[in-house]
Amino acid sequence: MYKFGTILVALRFASLVAAVPQRGHARYGIQYQANATRANAVKDAFQTAWDGYVQYAFGHDSLRPVSNSYEDDRNGWGASAVDAFSTALVMENFEVVNQILAYVQTINFDNAIGDVSLFETTIRYLGGLLSAYDLLQGPLNGKSNDTVSVQTILKQAQHLADNLKVAFDTPSGVPDNDLYFSPPRIANSTTNGLATIGTLVMEWTRLSDLTGDPKYGQLAQKAEEYLLNPKPALGEPFPGLLGMDVNITTGLFVDGSGGWVGGADSFYEYLIKMYLYDPQRFGEYKQRWTVAVESSIKYLTSHPTTRPDLTFLAIYDNRTLSFVSQHLACFDGGNFILGGLTLNQPRYIEIGLDLTTACHETYTQTATGIGPEIFQWQDSNTALNATNNPGPPAAQAEFYKKAGFWIVDGDYVLRPEVIESFYYAYRATGDSKYQDWAWEAFVRINETCRVGSGFSSVKDVGVAGGGGWTDFQESFWFAEVLKYSYLIHAEEAEWQVKADHSNEFVFNTEAHPMRLAKGSERARM
Ligand SMILES: *[C@@H]1O[C@H](CO)[C@@H](O)[C@H](O)[C@H]1NC(C)=O
Ligand SMILES: *[C@@H]1O[C@H](CO)[C@@H](O)[C@H](O)[C@H]1NC(C)=O
Ligand SMILES: *[C@@H]1O[C@H](CO)[C@@H](O)[C@H](O)[C@H]1NC(C)=O
Ligand SMILES: *[C@@H]1O[C@H](CO)[C@@H](O)[C@H](O)[C@H]1NC(C)=O
Ligand SMILES: *[C@@H]1O[C@H](CO)[C@@H](O)[C@H](O)[C@H]1NC(C)=O
Ligand SMILES: *[C@@H]1O[C@H](CO)[C@@H](O)[C@H](O)[C@H]1NC(C)=O
Ligand SMILES: *[C@@H]1O[C@H](CO)[C@@H](O)[C@H](O)[C@H]1NC(C)=O
Repeated sequence: MYKFGTILVALRFASLVAAVPQRGHARYGIQYQANATRANAVKDAFQTAWDGYVQYAFGHDSLRPVSNSYEDDRNGWGASAVDAFSTALVMENFEVVNQILAYVQTINFDNAIGDVSLFETTIRYLGGLLSAYDLLQGPLNGKSNDTVSVQTILKQAQHLADNLKVAFDTPSGVPDNDLYFSPPRIANSTTNGLATIGTLVMEWTRLSDLTGDPKYGQLAQKAEEYLLNPKPALGEPFPGLLGMDVNITTGLFVDGSGGWVGGADSFYEYLIKMYLYDPQRFGEYKQRWTVAVESSIKYLTSHPTTRPDLTFLAIYDNRTLSFVSQHLACFDGGNFILGGLTLNQPRYIEIGLDLTTACHETYTQTATGIGPEIFQWQDSNTALNATNNPGPPAAQAEFYKKAGFWIVDGDYVLRPEVIESFYYAYRATGDSKYQDWAWEAFVRINETCRVGSGFSSVKDVGVAGGGGWTDFQESFWFAEVLKYSYLIHAEEAEWQVKADHSNEFVFNTEAHPMRLAKGSERARM
């Protein structure tokens, strides 16, 4: 899950090539050990949040757990219900599954409250619906109380996509991310972002493969072409690492700033996931992922002056680095690990585990045991007087000494990325350490964010208690945090990530598992 908001600052002087330690090979034949006590505790938290949503917000998008009210911040189609669907399914909570299944029949995707984000609608609603359909047609076939309604899930997804597809009706085919409904029309934006363009292709291709109508996948893949072959040169400051904004009229990049952070992140994530989804059609995506990861290792890996044992990825503006990162970027470890497993590259797994370990520190070092939204550090390979390598503010100097980062923005908005990487680390290694990390993080989130009728974002992870609640429970709390927190302790199942190339599902960026393409269901494109 990505969000906007670039944290780049214009800086000069930088050049950094961090050494990557050589390590042994990853092991296969991994043993997984489920823990029913922990899995059930996560299920209990899901039930608590679900009951609060049903009581005070059902059919609306997000629960306000402190005031026991709601907000329609995702067009009023019941984002939390759709985002909870695949989590209820993998938890095999069929009471909730049946409730959501009945609700999905009633959603009216022709009317929208507010303007519509193509990206958010794709990852939450389209992704949630397609995943539920895949699970109920596949491993959980026959488990709902109403098999006729299952077909309606796909019809609703297709109807939604039919309303969204006007977004691609631009001179270049790069979509406008901002739409209005009734009737569907675009806002006529001038640019769109790397992540918002590059995080559609899985859901839209899956929709084509399930319906047999190739047009959805074709639209998303055409837009993706501009990202696979970026022009002009300023849009690709390091091989495979791109800028953030693309001109909708021309398909040309207008900047060269980026990284694995919000606004760019899930573009890289989907490159390797599309190859996993279907290696026959998406070989070029794999190549571009590999180029991006090699550049990230060579140019972006950075070790804090006070904690050279930690590895983070820097961001860049052209080729100038900044040593700033985000909770959002902490999916990077998990994505390197998934790529390493998929491509038989133990080196990517090892570096992914290093990135995951550093993100773990962003949790364990704070007063709440939860990581901040934005953090910064001083790079040990760059001059300490360089303008792009400032030290910590005085108030955080002591904290930086032990932690290896300081807090720029202390919000925690119920994001999943750190626990998501723990999940991939566990599935790749079978090492129970990562289960313990996920459990500890979950216990601390439960302790800090649980309030009123559910769970709320908090204002400052750097102070005990979290500095106050914002009275808002994001729908991805259901889709992502609860799912990864559960799956890492759960029994083996078709949808679990596997280390031995036997994956049957791939998770979209909202953690909705999609079934991998099978030859017979591939829509011809
Ligand atoms: C399962 O988790 C509980 C709670 O953390 C722990 O006490 C117990 O030792 C774990 N069981 C196993 C077999 O790891
Ligand atoms: C299935 O369960 C839901 C939720 O309990 C209920 O609303 C719906 O009527 C049930 N459908 C059938 C066919 O029993
Ligand atoms: C965008 O431009 C098109 C074509 O000029 C127009 O039909 C549409 O109404 C515009 N959208 C908005 C929101 O103004
Ligand atoms: C996008 O390209 C068009 C056509 O070349 C140009 O007129 C416009 O100024 C560009 N917009 C941006 C934001 O670069
Ligand atoms: C980035 O590079 C481009 C082209 O080389 C240049 O026009 C632009 O000014 C640079 N931006 C910054 C912030 O240095
Ligand atoms: C940093 O310090 C070095 C050596 O003390 C000096 O040569 C250099 O000019 C300084 N750079 C800046 C940007 O102040
Ligand atoms: C979460 O918090 C509730 C309320 O304090 C508590 O009853 C429950 O045991 C906690 N769960 C975990 C996993 O810590």
